[in-house]
Amino acid sequence: MDQKTLEYYQQNSDEICKRYNSVSTEKFLGKYFKNIFPEKNKEKYRILDYGCGSGRDVLYLINQGYDAYGYDISSEMILSSKKINPILKDRLFDSISSLKESEKYNSVICSAVLQHVTDSEILEVLKTIKYFLKENGNLVISYPVIYANLDNENRDDKGRLQIIRNSEFYISKLVSLGFTHEKEWFDKDSMNREGISWQTSLFTL
Ligand SMILES: C[S@@+](CC[C@H](N)C(=O)[O-])C[C@H]1O[C@@H](n2cnc3c(N)ncnc32)[C@H](O)[C@@H]1O
Repeated sequence: MDQKTLEYYQQNSDEICKRYNSVSTEKFLGKYFKNIFPEKNKEKYRILDYGCGSGRDVLYLINQGYDAYGYDISSEMILSSKKINPILKDRLFDSISSLKESEKYNSVICSAVLQHVTDSEILEVLKTIKYFLKENGNLVISYPVIYANLDNENRDDKGRLQIIRNSEFYISKLVSLGFTHEKEWFDKDSMNREGISWQTSLFTL
C-alpha cells in the first residue's frame, strides 16, 4: 500500500475514527444494504467490510442482525475502533492471514478504500476480495468519481493518494475475475465535503 496514505491512518487513527463514526451508515451505503442483503436468516449471512476504517458499518450491520466482520490494513485504525466500540473486539482484524482461517463470506463491502490502492496493486487487492467470497456472493464497492483539489501526485490535503477511476475500470477488472456487474448508484459526499462525489457498484459472482 502507498506508505504516505498508510501513515496518515496510522498516525491519526483516534481522530479519524471519531470523525467517521459521526456519519450515519444510513446516510450512505445503508440505503443500498436494504436492497442487497436478505431480510431472513440474517444471523447466518456473513459480511466482510474490507477496509473497514472505524468499523462504523460493521457495527451498523451487527445491530441489523447480520454476522458482520471487518478488515483494515491499518493496525492503529483497528485498535482505535475497538477502543471506541469494545463490542467490535472479536469482529475486526488487521491481518489477512487470520481472516483466511475462517469461513468465507456471502458479501464483501469495500467503501472508500480502492482509491488509495496504487495501479500496481489494484488487481491483487481485487483478487484478495474475490478470495473471501462464497460462490454466488456479492460485492459492493464505493469509490470517488470526483475529488477536487488533488495535487499533481493525486494526493489530497492530508497526503492520501486518491486515484480517480471510473466504473468502466472496475467493471473490466472485476468481469475479468469472473464477476457480473449488476447496478450502480451515485452520491454526494456523506461528510458534506465540496467537490467530492461517489459511485457505488454492485457485482455478483
Ligand atoms: C477513507 S477510509 C474508509 C473507511 C470505511 N470503509 C468507511 O467507509 O468509512 C479508507 C480505509 O481503507 C484502509 N485501506 C486502505 N488501503 C487498504 C488495503 N489495501 N487493504 C485494506 N484496507 C485498506 C485504510 O487504512 C482506511 O482505514
